[in-house]
Amino acid sequence: MKKQINRRDFLTRSVLAAGGLTLSATAVLADHPVDRLKGYAQVEQALFLGINRVKDPHKKSAVEKKHAPVIGVPQQIKAGQSFAVTLSVGEIAHPMGAGHYIQYIELLAGNEPAGRLELRPGLNAAQATFYLTVDKPVTLVAREYCNLHGLWESRLEIELA
Ligand SMILES: [Fe+2]
Repeated sequence: MKKQINRRDFLTRSVLAAGGLTLSATAVLADHPVDRLKGYAQVEQALFLGINRVKDPHKKSAVEKKHAPVIGVPQQIKAGQSFAVTLSVGEIAHPMGAGHYIQYIELLAGNEPAGRLELRPGLNAAQATFYLTVDKPVTLVAREYCNLHGLWESRLEIELA
């Protein structure tokens, strides 16, 4: 038998549901990365204000060495032939423990998304390999996101043999 609800019950339930949505939205806002980091004294909150890149390739800081993606490609790349792009975070291996880890690694070929790997702390290494085929020179853009040190990017120009 179908249960009938009256207008008053319907309105009460709607208000409760809307209240739940408001609470959920508040919870999402409170879960901003900068708020989550308040307990970590060693975290530079400025790292969460934009995309981080190596400032001087000849004088990298410790955080740059640990976070800037390292892009590996074959010496020769030919038009129309698949090749492997290996991405590592970074040149010093990044931790992958429960409290400090890389959430994802992604690759773009120019502006085109070319691969994205979500990582599990305690299970994955902070590395990814994607296979690409290009028909003209392109800029590879590698990005990774660290839960404590934000979004990092490296670029590599690809020339064809
Ligand atoms: Fe990190």
